[in-house]
Amino acid sequence: MTSIAEHCCGADRFFDEKTAAKEYRNYLKKGPRKATAKIIRQLSAQDITGKNMVDVGGGIGALQWWFLAQGGRQTTDIDASSGYLAKARDHAVKNGWQDKARFVMGDCTDKYKEVDEAHVITLDKVVCCYPDFKEILTATCNKAKEYVALSYPMDGFIAQAIRNLGALFFMLKGNPFRPYVHPVKEIRSVFAAKGFTRIAHDTSFPWHIETYVRASA
Ligand SMILES: C[S@@+](CC[C@H](N)C(=O)[O-])C[C@H]1O[C@@H](n2cnc3c(N)ncnc32)[C@H](O)[C@@H]1O
Repeated sequence: MTSIAEHCCGADRFFDEKTAAKEYRNYLKKGPRKATAKIIRQLSAQDITGKNMVDVGGGIGALQWWFLAQGGRQTTDIDASSGYLAKARDHAVKNGWQDKARFVMGDCTDKYKEVDEAHVITLDKVVCCYPDFKEILTATCNKAKEYVALSYPMDGFIAQAIRNLGALFFMLKGNPFRPYVHPVKEIRSVFAAKGFTRIAHDTSFPWHIETYVRASA
């Protein structure tokens, strides 16, 4: 299994400035991508006024911009990609959100130590970037005061085959980053074990899109 340090280094190389610039242009032209829009729809059912959010692997920041525009108090983006973080920071400044939007570079399971607990934590297409889903989800549940919303890939034979092709691509490029397809049932079991209940589920091929709430919230 790739070490987390190698994995983050590989993510930084793959999600580079060029990818970030392309994603950002798409966002400005077309708005959030389908899975992201579905996370927004699920969270829109909750009152987020005055609340804070951690967006793990936030990319160009679509979820954060929605959160702040809807009355969220503060966002923290923890991302392993310097290219994505730079693009997201630029957008925050352009929109006068520099005091509300915070950016942290690195692996979230490590950087969670540096950030406050959050009412909402999002992981949009991030669990599939992480070798150990139990570790990232347990750390996320420990940090989330109310909601965790995420998208992650459907599992099964076809998904594994596509994942293996992806892994081959990265191996041939000499990049230690790897994509992962984790078992859906076990992902859901982690939330249950941490006292979270699923309140929304949707799909947008190949993604499951789900929101969980802390039972005691
Ligand atoms: C597929 S991109 C998704 C970006 C964005 N959430 C979206 O949906 O457009 C995965 C993101 O997760 C970040 N990432 C991967 N592993 C991470 C980790 N261990 N800690 C923090 N960010 C991570 C990558 O740098 C990248 O920004």
